[in-house]
Amino acid sequence: MDFKEHIIEKIIKLTELERTIVENAVEVPPDEKMGDLAFPCFPLAKIMHKAPPVIAQELSKKLSDDDMIDKVQPAGGYLNFFFNRERFISETVGEIEKAPEKWGMSNEGEGKTVLCEYSSPNIAKPFHIGHLFSTAVGNSLARIYKQLGYNVQSLNHLGDWGTQFGKLISAYKRWGDREVIEKDPINELLKIYVKFHDEAEEHPELEDEARGYFKKLEDGDEEMTELWSYFREISLVEYKRVYELLGVEFDSYNGEAFYSDKMDEVVDILRDKGLLVESEGAQVVDLSEEGMPPCIILKSNGATIYATRDIAAALYRHRTYNFDKNIYVVGNPQKLHFRQFLTAMKKAGWKWADDCIHVGFGLVRFGGKNLSTRHGDVVLLEDVLRESIDKTREIIRKNNSNVDDIEDASRKIGIGAIFYTFLHSTREKDIDLNWETILDFEGESGPYCQYGYARGRSILRRAEGINFKNADFSKTVSDEEYSLVKHLNGFYDAVKIAADKNEPFYINRYVTNLTKAFNKFYNTNPILKDDVDEETKKARLALVSVTTEVIKSALYLLGIETVESM
Ligand code: ARG
Repeated sequence: MDFKEHIIEKIIKLTELERTIVENAVEVPPDEKMGDLAFPCFPLAKIMHKAPPVIAQELSKKLSDDDMIDKVQPAGGYLNFFFNRERFISETVGEIEKAPEKWGMSNEGEGKTVLCEYSSPNIAKPFHIGHLFSTAVGNSLARIYKQLGYNVQSLNHLGDWGTQFGKLISAYKRWGDREVIEKDPINELLKIYVKFHDEAEEHPELEDEARGYFKKLEDGDEEMTELWSYFREISLVEYKRVYELLGVEFDSYNGEAFYSDKMDEVVDILRDKGLLVESEGAQVVDLSEEGMPPCIILKSNGATIYATRDIAAALYRHRTYNFDKNIYVVGNPQKLHFRQFLTAMKKAGWKWADDCIHVGFGLVRFGGKNLSTRHGDVVLLEDVLRESIDKTREIIRKNNSNVDDIEDASRKIGIGAIFYTFLHSTREKDIDLNWETILDFEGESGPYCQYGYARGRSILRRAEGINFKNADFSKTVSDEEYSLVKHLNGFYDAVKIAADKNEPFYINRYVTNLTKAFNKFYNTNPILKDDVDEETKKARLALVSVTTEVIKSALYLLGIETVESM
């Protein structure tokens, strides 16, 4: 039985207000002590010609308690409802026990497809911490939408096309050494790419050579294509290794190159619709009405660019997936780029362009340092991951934690800690990472939540043999127990708002608060002590059991794995 629904119905019956008015008015009071749900009487003031506090007083007398509601209390202009704790706890726990893996899920997305594009590093350019931010947010959103029953496709829009390939080919022909490169492809390619830039500062003719190579590549030259595909393949092997470390998967690695033969059509459509105008030799879509610089479609030398490829990609996705939403998780510096090409698409009359959503995020700094991508002085993703894992291993050793497999635990905790930190604030906020907060086992952190889970699992191991199904909750209604179950009950709401706002942060806050409530519960309510009577013991074990399940599910939505002991 839904407590909220029950209360809404009671209010409707009594006040004869319209359902939507009541539904929208009912709210959760700011403080748990004020009750579980509140009804502000303000919408009634006009109808009843009385002050809200007077109405609240009158209504409270007319509303009788029942087996779901313990009391109804007027407070100012509000009516505060207190649920029957025992009933609320036993129903919620019973529901979770029935199918723990389904708790917090729904099927509202059935038959609908959501595309989630994220990570999307650029070959030969640094795979940096900004790409990790995108990976954390995108991977989490993909899991959140799946939780709501959507068919989700995770896309990696690799930066595998563009003038940088001309530069890379030029660099490779001059300084490339296959053997050296294959030992460490990403860093070695980056190295010669950076060297190209340094050299080109003194020898600008190198730039011409690079442009020539890219032109040849675009024209399908065999040697160029072979080199391009070689660079792509060896980089992809590396990326996939990193994704495996992160526990992240993609359904498609179609990058920019995939759309290189699909751009003529875009140019034709835009031209046919009369949207292309010439500007300084280039073909552009004018966006002055929208207060934006024009969206360049063809450069003056006839070459297509980033935006053209993005329009081709969107059109391809629309035709291939007929998506409900096409989400791009890309940093805020590209905000204008997305507004531009999406507006150009709307001008072309593609209604579904409204379902293409840029999900931006802030800048990342590390230890107060701004990250610059120039000349390679950038914090590289894999270095950060390795360092996190190493530091975690040290902490585990120092704490003498009893983990089963220290390598496995260090990876899960080290990586989880980083994902957690990225998703700890709303995504538009700039973040400044530092190891003290990332790996603070006691503060709000990934390890803190993982520890809560492991703690619960260890209690359950010690209770092996005790059957706590269908427990009696009449004595386990303390504030801590009740608050814990209220948190458990809120899982779906957190998932829903996280999806509505494309904000994994809501899940992060949810699981953090749930873990805190769990800590409070087991610190104040003994579970396996000798003087705890059997019924209470069983009821508390049931609480521990469902809580560990929900912490695990919620962490999974953030991309964080759990460990059984810590
Ligand atoms: N490769 C780009 C970068 O690293 C991100 C790709 C964004 N996605 C897109 N469809 N434009 O900056």
